[in-house]
Amino acid sequence: MTQKVIPLFSCSNVHVSTEDKDIVKGVDLTIKAGEIHALMGPNGSGKSTFATGLMGDPSMKLTGKISINGAEVQDLPAYERAKAGIFLGFQYPVAIPGVTVAAFLRASLTELRGEAASVFEFRKELKEAFENLDIPWKFADRYLNDGFSGGEKKRLEILQMVMMEPKFIILDEIDSGLDVDALKTVAKGIESAASKGAGVLMVTHYQRLLDLAVPCRVHYFMDGKIAFSDDVASVKNLEEHGYEWLRSKFNDSKDNDEKSYIKEAAV
Ligand SMILES: Nc1ncnc2c1ncn2[C@@H]1O[C@H](COP(=O)(O)OP(=O)(O)OP(=O)(O)O)[C@@H](O)[C@H]1O
Ligand SMILES: [Mg+2]
Repeated sequence: MTQKVIPLFSCSNVHVSTEDKDIVKGVDLTIKAGEIHALMGPNGSGKSTFATGLMGDPSMKLTGKISINGAEVQDLPAYERAKAGIFLGFQYPVAIPGVTVAAFLRASLTELRGEAASVFEFRKELKEAFENLDIPWKFADRYLNDGFSGGEKKRLEILQMVMMEPKFIILDEIDSGLDVDALKTVAKGIESAASKGAGVLMVTHYQRLLDLAVPCRVHYFMDGKIAFSDDVASVKNLEEHGYEWLRSKFNDSKDNDEKSYIKEAAV
């Protein structure tokens, strides 16, 4: 008897819309434990809306199913989805003046773990994570993202990811703003999380991240949908020919679908 394997993450027929606009128009995706996937696509195609929709953005309407290890989470608020193991590293992390990095992380970890670590234990854990990610320790007592440079904000997103130990990680343009050294450190963090069994979806525009944290699958997003998926070697076409390559490929596959439909209909 074959046993059905439940994937770490799956979503089906996901639509995300504002009051007057459909932005994400039917996405199906499955990511297994330990897999890294990439999501690429032109500006404005809906990648961030898909990412924030998965995390539970309350300003958007989402329909469809989202499961973590087989448990459906689409009706849960964002903080419950976080408890279920979803993490989103934002494209544009927001500043929270008045809340220090250390206080924010302690409160988040207490919620996620269901118990407060001792101040001593927590500071030790935090210090270790700061050192591993080459973030100066003085940042712990600065207000969250307040006055941080673009690259510093992105490092801090990864610091949160490392400390929260999520099951399913979505990183929205984590590579934008990072210098070469930080990019390597971040890629190491991503690979390490995947090697411990997390599933990862990285939204990016550039090959350079994919050379360091190598995805097993690349999904190309166009007009609110995954137009098609391929292996990482396909990204070189994008680097060479831009999204025109994707548009022509998409039209080809649409033509083929139509042709095969016509063929099937004729049988
Ligand atoms: N709250 C909103 N209200 C109206 N339109 C929105 C809202 N949020 C996003 N959009 C629109 O939805 C489209 C998709 O935006 P989204 O940020 O998801 O694109 P993206 O693929 O992440 O682009 P980029 O590569 O530039 O980050 C855009 O046209 C954007 O202007
Ligand atoms: Mg975006």
